[in-house]
Amino acid sequence: MDTIRTWVLLAALAVPFAGSADERSIRMKDGAERGLLVANCSGCHSLDYIQMNSPFLKRAGWEAEVKKMTAVMGAPISDADAAALVAYLAREYGVPD
Ligand code: HEC
Repeated sequence: MDTIRTWVLLAALAVPFAGSADERSIRMKDGAERGLLVANCSGCHSLDYIQMNSPFLKRAGWEAEVKKMTAVMGAPISDADAAALVAYLAREYGVPD
């Protein structure tokens, strides 16, 4: 049996099953920063963390949340990207101040 070809085949078969179907069905609200959010905020946990916190957080809350993700959790997000993400989260998922 050609071991390498077997592994290539297994890898090809596994790709469509990577990630859960539920996660792919989460579609964040439209906005210029949506791609930025998916790129920066879906690496460690589901994006539904954002939807779950939407009923509770005002702008300051989202600001603290993004800061916690970078400062405490170690998410590598630049200051400029963090500011854009806070604006998007406050606008689309925030409780009005
Ligand atoms: C480096 C990994 C990492 C990245 C990247 C990351 N998070 Fe998190 N996030 C975590 C961890 C770990 C928790 C669970 C923390 C806890 O249990 O307190 C969490 C929890 C959360 C929660 C639930 C509330 C809370 O504070 O526990 C929200 C909301 C959240 N993240 C939003 C975001 C947003 C928005 C981004 C993108 C800006 C992001 N996360 C990116 C690691 C990350």
